[in-house]
Amino acid sequence: MVSNKPHTDLRTVWVSLKKGADLIGLATLQFPSSEYKLVAPAFISNFAIKKAFQGQGLGSYLFEQIEHYCSDYGLRKIILESTAKNTAFWQAVGFVRNIQNPTVLFKLLPTKK
Ligand SMILES: CC(C)(COP(=O)(O)OP(=O)(O)OC[C@H]1O[C@@H](n2cnc3c(N)ncnc32)[C@H](O)[C@@H]1OP(=O)(O)O)[C@@H](O)C(=O)NCCC(=O)NCCS
Repeated sequence: MVSNKPHTDLRTVWVSLKKGADLIGLATLQFPSSEYKLVAPAFISNFAIKKAFQGQGLGSYLFEQIEHYCSDYGLRKIILESTAKNTAFWQAVGFVRNIQNPTVLFKLLPTKK
C-alpha cells in the first residue's frame, strides 16, 4: 500500500543551553511517538556549542541531558550524522559508526527495568 503518511509520528524539540540570558549551545532532537519508541531511534541534528565555550565539557553536558531525556522517555537508540571534524566528539560520548554508512553514528541506550 502506498501512503504519504510517515511510518512514525516524529516530534521535534529544540534543546538549548544557556548561561544567564546568553544562548551558548543548542540542538534539535527528533523522536518517535510513544507507540514507536522501542523500534524507532531519536535523531540529533544542529548540535553546536558557541565557539568561545567549546572545549569545556559543555557539549558532553548538553548531550547527557538529551540522553537522559531519551532514556527516561523509553527510547533504545540515538542516531546522528557527523562531519569528520566532529566524529571524535561523538565517539567520546559513546557513539559508534554505522558500518554501512560511516557518516552515520549511533548510540544504544540501556533498557529501562
Ligand atoms: C563538536 C562540539 C559540539 C563539541 O563540544 P565541546 O563542548 O567543545 O566538547 P566537550 O568539551 O564536551 O568535549 C568532550 C570530549 O569530546 C572530544 N572532543 C571535543 N571536540 C573535539 C575535537 N574537535 N577533536 C577531537 N576531540 C574532541 C574530547 O575528547 C573531549 O574530551 P576531553 O574532556 O577528554 O577533552 C563543538 O566543538 C561544536 O559545537 N563544534 C562546532 C559545531 C558543529 O560542527 N557541531 C556538530 C554538528 S554534528
